[in-house]
Amino acid sequence: MRHPVQSGAIAILMTLGASALAADREEEGRQAYEATCARCHDTGIMDAPVTSNPDDWEGRSDLWEAVLFEHAQLGYIRMPAKGGAKDASDYDVEAAAEYMIKTAKPDHPSD
Ligand code: HEC
Repeated sequence: MRHPVQSGAIAILMTLGASALAADREEEGRQAYEATCARCHDTGIMDAPVTSNPDDWEGRSDLWEAVLFEHAQLGYIRMPAKGGAKDASDYDVEAAAEYMIKTAKPDHPSD
C-alpha cells in the first residue's frame, strides 16, 4: 500500500512533467513548421491556406486532428505528403500540423 502523501507528490510531479512536455512539443512543432511547412503556409503559394489567416481555414475539415493530420502526412490535392520533406518523422509532421492548427484557429478545441 502506497502512503497517500507519497502518491499525491507523485501525481504533482507527473502533472509538472506533462506540461513541460507539452511546451517542448509546441516548440518542436514550431521548428518543424518553420523548416518544412512555412515556405508554402506563410506565403499562400499554390493557394496553400496561410497559417496566420484564419479565413483561409474556414471550410476546411473541422475534424482537425484526425483528418488534417492525415492530410499532412499523406498529402491532399496540391499539398505534398509531409510538405515534401520525405525524411521528416511522423512525429515532426504532426507536431508541425498541431502548431499550424493552434495558430490558425486558436479557439478550436484540440482533442
Ligand atoms: C509545397 C507547398 C506546401 C508545403 C511545403 C506544405 N503544404 Fe500544406 N498545403 C499546401 C497546399 C497547396 C494546400 C491546399 C491543398 C488544397 O486544398 O488544394 C495545403 C493544405 C494543408 C492542410 C489542409 C488540408 C485540408 O484537409 O484542408 C494542412 C493541415 C497542411 N497543408 C499541413 C501542412 C503541414 C503540417 C506542412 C509541413 C509538414 C505542410 N502543410 C507543408 C501546400 C504545402
